[in-house]
Amino acid sequence: MNNLPIGIFDSGVGGLTVARAVRDQLPHESITYVGDTAHTPYGPKPIARVREYALSVLDDMVEQGVKMLVIACNTASAAMLRDAHERYDVPVLEVIQPAVRSAVSITKNGRVGLIGTVGTIKSRAYDDLFSIRDDITLFTRACPRFVEFVEEGVTAGPELHRVAIEYLTELKEANIDTLVLGCTHYPFLRGAISRVMGSGVRLVSSDIETANDVYRVLAEHGLMRGDSHPAEYRYKATGDNADTFLLLAERLLGSGVPSVDLITTGTRGIDIIQD
Ligand code: DGL
Repeated sequence: MNNLPIGIFDSGVGGLTVARAVRDQLPHESITYVGDTAHTPYGPKPIARVREYALSVLDDMVEQGVKMLVIACNTASAAMLRDAHERYDVPVLEVIQPAVRSAVSITKNGRVGLIGTVGTIKSRAYDDLFSIRDDITLFTRACPRFVEFVEEGVTAGPELHRVAIEYLTELKEANIDTLVLGCTHYPFLRGAISRVMGSGVRLVSSDIETANDVYRVLAEHGLMRGDSHPAEYRYKATGDNADTFLLLAERLLGSGVPSVDLITTGTRGIDIIQD
């Protein structure tokens, strides 16, 4: 038994999709969520820089006390897939392996698509994991503007549809039957992506799969929370842009963020506490 919170980390608000899935499956678990909004977006940045930013946040989270780290950001996961597990004493989960596992179990024709940020696609982290399956061919495409749409709160409309056609037509023509949404922002665009890909293509996102992993690892390591008090949720954003974080979190998750207090904790960041 362990009553410390689960630490969930993303470059910004996208990882809230993972936090939401963890809350749904494990409502008695406390969560500390950190969005590195001072450095968002990670997608277009060099992978070494992303690694540096992510490690600094994760080091702090471990120091402040979490029982598990969830890297709820594909770009950060891609940057740290190899060494994050060795660096920390607590279990470290990320979003790439669950998505790959899920896609492998879903595809029937062995033709899988992957969309993500420029950083994620360039890192070839997914390619490496899929490469052990020689019955699977991976088709990839970076879709940087998708993050911009989500950040602007746009999850539908003609401009998004136009851009989705531009990004996705090649994948559709490659006759894929499974598409991995390799970015934590993309689950918000499921409708728009599905409209272009058609109902024959299954969309795989890492939020629910990662939450399944969180459940399994907590259970296997005897780390489930034993405290009978209600779980506590703390949302933190680095930098000085808490308002944007809050606005987006509310817009995207609706009642998932019912009331929020802002407190300043010093120069490094702003704590956003949810009652
Ligand atoms: N969270 C990032 C990811 O999943 C997308 C946003 C960003 O570029 O920082 O790749």
